[in-house]
Amino acid sequence: MLKNLPTFSLIILLMLPGISAAQNDTRQLVRLPEMMQKHMLSNMRDHLATINEILQKMAKGELPAAADIAEAHLGMSSLDKHGASHLVKFMPEGMRKAGTSMHHAASRFALKAQEGELLPAYRALSAVTSSCVACHSAYRIR
Ligand code: HEC
Repeated sequence: MLKNLPTFSLIILLMLPGISAAQNDTRQLVRLPEMMQKHMLSNMRDHLATINEILQKMAKGELPAAADIAEAHLGMSSLDKHGASHLVKFMPEGMRKAGTSMHHAASRFALKAQEGELLPAYRALSAVTSSCVACHSAYRIR
């Protein structure tokens, strides 16, 4: 046992940052029915894939294509497809607002991108990702 003490101490030390990160988790837990939870996480993975596609289009200078993808997958036009009206019933007010502001930001990005200038389009895209981050830092569902 004593022989293993250094290894043991090292393992404990390595675990500390994870333990304190979990204790500092101040996100509010929102309980969703299991189906809704799965549905929401699958939407989320689509959101991330969409941001990636938008960046790829922007890197090729294809702003109109980036605009179309953003509006269809993240913008106000995407709400029906995401089953948003079912999900929002389970969300606290603040989470609902965070979701709405993300969808608005995505539609604003689409309009900016259609104007054809890269820098303002990037600025508008960062408003979208900021709203992803804002909701993630406030809420969890598991
Ligand atoms: C209204 C709140 C909200 C918004 C806005 C939001 N998310 Fe999420 N997202 C969540 C929650 C809650 C989880 C689950 C966190 C947990 O409990 O583990 C999550 C999880 C995820 C996951 C993990 C999915 C999985 O299968 O584990 C990804 C990826 C993700 N979000 C991407 C995004 C991206 C990209 C955006 C912005 C375009 C975004 N989210 C906007 C609330 C939000």
